[in-house]
Amino acid sequence: MKGRAHKIRPTLGERPPSPASLLIVDAAELLTLRGAEGPRAHEAAQDLGIIEDGAVYSEGARLVDVGTTDEVLARHPRADLRIEAAGKVVAPGFVDPHTHPVFAGSREHEVEWKSQGLSYSEIAARGGGILHTVRATRESSEGDLARDATKRLRSMAASGTTTVEAKSGYGLRTDDELKILRAIAAAGHAAEIDVVPTFLGAHAVPPEFQTRPEAYVNLVREEMLPAIAANRLADFCDAFVDRGYFSANQAREILKRGADLGLRPKVHADELSDAGGAALAAELGAASADHLIHTSSDGIEAMARSRTIAILLPAASLASRLPFADGRRLLAAGVAVAIGTDFNPNCWCDSMPLAIALACHHNGLTPAEAITAATVNAAHAIGRGDQVGVLEPGRVADLVVLDMPSWRHLGYRFGGNAVETVVKRGSVLVDRRPGR
Ligand code: NIG
Ligand code: FE
Repeated sequence: MKGRAHKIRPTLGERPPSPASLLIVDAAELLTLRGAEGPRAHEAAQDLGIIEDGAVYSEGARLVDVGTTDEVLARHPRADLRIEAAGKVVAPGFVDPHTHPVFAGSREHEVEWKSQGLSYSEIAARGGGILHTVRATRESSEGDLARDATKRLRSMAASGTTTVEAKSGYGLRTDDELKILRAIAAAGHAAEIDVVPTFLGAHAVPPEFQTRPEAYVNLVREEMLPAIAANRLADFCDAFVDRGYFSANQAREILKRGADLGLRPKVHADELSDAGGAALAAELGAASADHLIHTSSDGIEAMARSRTIAILLPAASLASRLPFADGRRLLAAGVAVAIGTDFNPNCWCDSMPLAIALACHHNGLTPAEAITAATVNAAHAIGRGDQVGVLEPGRVADLVVLDMPSWRHLGYRFGGNAVETVVKRGSVLVDRRPGR
């Protein structure tokens, strides 16, 4: 249907008119990620389900047909909008399974401290880190937080992210945590990408509880969690299990209470030290254990026996000059691996393609494993594996067109942005095609 006037704005903003039907044709490589249900481990993590000269057809928000261009055009010759993807790669929209996008202020001044060699914990001890952001976030209004987070989510979408998990954790008081979770929902709505909310009250012990951390654990368990569950503001409950933050025992109390209230556990595990986070995640049947930089062999084995997904966050290692998690070891043990950006005020990385390239160069993932980790496995890590992360009839029509000749370039290129078109629920959300 070339020549038919169909206005698509080149930049993000007000939603473009939703086409009733959409065809994307002639893709050099269509990465379907089709395969067995569930997260992919072992050999299955290498299989991208590639269709050469591929095409997809969607109606409304759902994919209806996926195959070679000849096959799809034979069944669906016309659509309201048709996108040519010759010489390009078409993939599921990226799923970013770990971000902290709602906060006030910023921490660019900490980069000077990093330049001087200060560690994450030393920066926190100087009054930087999480508690610096908590002070600013407590003073900020819900509207301002939502407005800033919307910009961040739109920037993520411009790099191909169509579903994002978003954590609270910069309020650390009941009203402020509720405010942040409402801002997460509002920002997802405004940015028109799907946001999966996670309550992270156990992100740090706030200043007013420094001398009595157990009282803060109680507050999270007895006041925050019931209020969040009653208002249906989060799908998951997370805890930062590490030296200087929460012990595995404190986190267990919080995560179990969350699970009783219907919030599935997640764990910030072993980022700064081996604090037993991975083993705790496995014990609780957590959806994911994230970071896993210092995880012991016992922790990895416990994860391999569980269904907990490992979320690797290579940009966090980059930002805090930490070692990179050994993804190869996790994969060899049979753990399903996902990757995320860990976007937060310490790690201002909103690009899943950058996380993919870092995971290939530093976490020991192959490019195919990293793409699996950024799509289908990431979707399972945030409870959306039945909807997104795979291009198959019946799934949500979330996809990206990448101006690169082959999928291997995703593991190869750093910086820049090869994302040309982002389709969210069957509508063009981002259009960076030349001349548009
Ligand atoms: O995932 N590790 C804990 N939380 C964040 C950092 C938050 C911050 O420094 O503001 C993370 O890296
Ligand atoms: Fe994090």
